[in-house]
Amino acid sequence: MALRIERLISGAYGLSHDAQGRTVLVKSALEGELVEPKRIERRANVLVAEDYDILEKSPLRISPACPYYGECGGCDFLSVSEKVSASLKEEIVRENLVRIAKTEHLPEFLPPSYASFASYRSRCRFHVDMKRKEIGFLRRGSNILFPLDHCPSLTGRINALLLEKEPVLKEAQRKRILEGVNRKTGYVEIPVQDGDEEVSFTDRTITALGYHVNPYCFFQSNLTLLPSMLSFVKENTVGNVVMDLYSGVGTFSRLFEGDERKVYAVEKNPRCLSLSKKNAPHALSFTSDALLFSKKVRERVDTVIVDPPRVGLAPPIIPVITSWNAERIIYVSCDSVSASRDISLFKGYELRMAKIFDFYPGSFHEESVFILEKI
Ligand SMILES: C[S@@+](CC[C@H](N)C(=O)[O-])C[C@H]1O[C@@H](n2cnc3c(N)ncnc32)[C@H](O)[C@@H]1O
Repeated sequence: MALRIERLISGAYGLSHDAQGRTVLVKSALEGELVEPKRIERRANVLVAEDYDILEKSPLRISPACPYYGECGGCDFLSVSEKVSASLKEEIVRENLVRIAKTEHLPEFLPPSYASFASYRSRCRFHVDMKRKEIGFLRRGSNILFPLDHCPSLTGRINALLLEKEPVLKEAQRKRILEGVNRKTGYVEIPVQDGDEEVSFTDRTITALGYHVNPYCFFQSNLTLLPSMLSFVKENTVGNVVMDLYSGVGTFSRLFEGDERKVYAVEKNPRCLSLSKKNAPHALSFTSDALLFSKKVRERVDTVIVDPPRVGLAPPIIPVITSWNAERIIYVSCDSVSASRDISLFKGYELRMAKIFDFYPGSFHEESVFILEKI
């Protein structure tokens, strides 16, 4: 049964309908392509095809820049160039704003930022098979290791670890004794962070773009593009009081170092907040759940920066933030589905501007910044 792809949707799925009108999502298939699935699985309420032949190719399709593409689970959207990836992700974000946020007028979209796939990734999570002494990512769609000795998306120093192996195996051995293995996979997981001069795969703190960072605390993994996002957030910050919620290691709070602004950094993970205090010593730093902290705020706030995990904001925090009457809300999002839901709930605000930063070329992950203004 051949399927025509109608458009690309979140998760890098090509949306199609079969002869009975049922929706079939085809992994990484592009708009206009005709595909013949080899197998269709039912997942929750939808039919999904991961494995298929392409009968008619999109002119946008290119040969993947990795010999393991399709087998290794590290990447799932290497079928287009970096430039096309960024613009397709912008289309997905626009679609989500219309469908989920029910935005009457789409905001101004600034041109998306993108950079090369080659060696971009400065953070990853290795899976280590201690019996076979193998390191890699998980195979696509499975919990089985795909051993690697090289990955084109990773930085040179992280690739050197894959070749050398021994230091990572030693750390995995230590971690297995302390924490055991991941119960689902049976592998030890080792987070890795590359930085300005060295790589860390223990809980040793290093610097990246001058920030104190640690593999166990979130930090963006595309150090080529991160400065452009930081400038965008800074340029769009107004007023004297800035609330940086979900502040991580103080990535945004640090932008206001040395100026007159009063900055609050709120992060629930104490380890990340202790790095934040080093990165942004001028900020008033709080180890707290964002909602609990927000309920206690009594002073005027001019700009609120929120950068929540993929699930988006806890719904009860939205009316609390809205009650501050801040002039601007800067919403940094790694999932435009949850962001669209949240944006629709900020009553009294209008979404004025949006910009895609394609931090994860080769994968379906998106990163966007939305600027909301008080009406
Ligand atoms: C996507 S990261 C963003 C970090 C930082 N803004 C950056 O760009 O590097 C989200 C952060 O929110 C923190 N977090 C998750 N849930 C939280 C909550 N309920 N309250 C406060 N922080 C939370 C996580 O620990 C993580 O550091």
